Amino acid sequence: MSGILPLFLVSLCLIVGSVQSQSSSQDAFIIQYLERRLAQMEERLNQCEQSTTSVTQRTFDLSSEIRGYLSTLSVLRSEVKSQMDGMSVRVDRMERELEYLENKIPSQSEIEMEEALLEQQIKAAELDLLKRKAKIKVQNDCSTGLSQIKSLKIVKKAGDTYGSWFKDPSEGSAKIYLLSGIRNDTVLEYVSLQSFTERTSSPAKVVQLPFHWQGSGHVVYNGFLYYHKADTTNQIVKVDLLNGTVVDSTLLPGAGRMPVYSLNPNTYLDMAVDELGLWVIHADAEYGGNLVITKLEIGTLAVESVWDTQCRSHDAEGAFLICGTLYVVYNTRYGGRSTIQCLYDIHDTIHSNESPVMFFPKRYTSHSSIHYHPGDKQLYAWDDGYQTIYKVETRKDDQVIAD
Ligand SMILES: *[C@@H]1O[C@H](CO)[C@@H](O)[C@H](O)[C@H]1NC(C)=O
Ligand SMILES: *[C@@H]1O[C@H](CO)[C@@H](O)[C@H](O)[C@H]1NC(C)=O
Repeated sequence: MSGILPLFLVSLCLIVGSVQSQSSSQDAFIIQYLERRLAQMEERLNQCEQSTTSVTQRTFDLSSEIRGYLSTLSVLRSEVKSQMDGMSVRVDRMERELEYLENKIPSQSEIEMEEALLEQQIKAAELDLLKRKAKIKVQNDCSTGLSQIKSLKIVKKAGDTYGSWFKDPSEGSAKIYLLSGIRNDTVLEYVSLQSFTERTSSPAKVVQLPFHWQGSGHVVYNGFLYYHKADTTNQIVKVDLLNGTVVDSTLLPGAGRMPVYSLNPNTYLDMAVDELGLWVIHADAEYGGNLVITKLEIGTLAVESVWDTQCRSHDAEGAFLICGTLYVVYNTRYGGRSTIQCLYDIHDTIHSNESPVMFFPKRYTSHSSIHYHPGDKQLYAWDDGYQTIYKVETRKDDQVIAD
């Protein structure tokens, strides 16, 4: 605008100069007019200049404002950048950690190796068990098998329909014990079989137990009674019959959830003594109701070994062991002729097909307990309230194998 202004003024002077040569009154009027116009123009010029400065000012303001924004923006950008940097460091660290963890997780082949190791350990344990079986055989020269049940003698009729009676199988003992009923806490002790059978006999001793028993699976060995404590699933207690005190007790793993024999629904743990020591027979519901035999250490009641047999508990009424072989006695629920139909030999020297079904003497029976006495080679049985004795015939299994 400043370039245009002088040009404009020059042209204006030229016009004024040319106009001066005309008449003076007319001149005065024109000069006034021009002066007015000039004043107006100057004013507008002023206004123009003012607005220009204000525009410049505003432009300046705007640019400084933009500069401010820009600096804030750059601050923000650097902040974002530093955050990004931090993030990338963390991502890096995370990646490293992931890698580390991946290295720590065992690969498939390593897992397979561990399984193989486990299998090896199981095999070793099985071998250990076999060795233990072998040791039992070596320690006890015991290879006697049952060949037949020869004769029956009815000794007495005493007590309830259900119960158990037996002679202490420890060497040199002649004592007879009677436990009548399926739940009681009184044990009758007689000095001998003769004393027991005498018509007017009274027990030499009445022992009061600290806890009731349950069922009819008890045994006595060397003056100690081993029995299933009533109202427990699987507790076996060992009581000193001299003064009726508990010496030891144990819980038999996995036992006590079903009756051992389906024909004797009140007996959950059936104990037995043979040439090798103390046994417990129970039925395992998880094992198809088949019988399981457990060898217990007679002093401490510790479990020595466990064998799952293929013998059924269904229709069984009792069982006993001779030299580590289980003989299971079956009957019908109406009472009939008892038979041995299943046997299980822990040494695997006798096989079921070698031993045919063995019959008990011809008589209708219903056994609530059968106890073998290794010294006498006799079975002490409780038959529907009668105390009976079966003589059994045994043979050397070695000879059978040699044949
Ligand atoms: C417990 O046994 C004793 C002796 O055999 C007997 O007298 C008593 O009646 C029995 N108690 C019960 C509750 O059966
Ligand atoms: C019970 O008898 C045994 C053997 O005589 C003895 O060791 C034990 O201390 C007796 N217990 C009590 C409580 O009398």
